[in-house]
Amino acid sequence: MIIAIDGPAGAGKGTLAARLAAHYGYHYLDTGLLYRAVGHLMAERGLDLDDPATAGNVARALDPSHLAEGELRGREAGERASRVAVHPEVRSALVDFQRAFALRKPGAVLDGRDIGTAICPEADVKLYVTASPEVRARRRTDELNAKGRDVDYGRILAEIRERDERDAGRASAPLRMAADAVLLDTSALDIEGVFRAALAIIDAKRAEIAANAP
Ligand code: DC
Repeated sequence: MIIAIDGPAGAGKGTLAARLAAHYGYHYLDTGLLYRAVGHLMAERGLDLDDPATAGNVARALDPSHLAEGELRGREAGERASRVAVHPEVRSALVDFQRAFALRKPGAVLDGRDIGTAICPEADVKLYVTASPEVRARRRTDELNAKGRDVDYGRILAEIRERDERDAGRASAPLRMAADAVLLDTSALDIEGVFRAALAIIDAKRAEIAANAP
């Protein structure tokens, strides 16, 4: 069973994906971490993020089992990830790892930007999780302020818009909804509502697969 979850930054896909994986006992891969790790390693080594060949070399040498999550979660790492993710050399270097992960038994949940369109076009369930830029910026601002960081809503909104533009506007595997994905707009839903909506979709698919099994 492969569950592909795509959508823009800050729509709540990570929270949803992790909960779904825990609920069904599936493996979970946050594919954004791979791109974040490439950007982070490059910055650490003083390399040019906009150089496709160098970025491709770093991506090919990446050992995903060594992802130190903590330092990759921040806004700066997200911005760097989005920049290196435009390079086809980087994207192709990360394909095999993601596809192998998706095949893990008894199932896998992957979240990212191109899972339903490019990495796992054969996924059993595809969800496209989104929310308006304003709602995403408001949530992110509140989240950071709650952690004691004094951030400005207008600045966060501008960052979100910029990231959306780069992720959806790039030539290689841009962010877009797969034709057979189900749209989950979380603008007016809380985490619980999104989770329940996703469960209904996935349970229906699981029942269909069980009914068709030999
Ligand atoms: O989901 P995230 O915010 O951690 O992703 C960081 C960046 O990585 C995102 O802005 C674009 C890139 N990315 C991608 O291009 N494809 C993916 N499957 C996941 C992330």
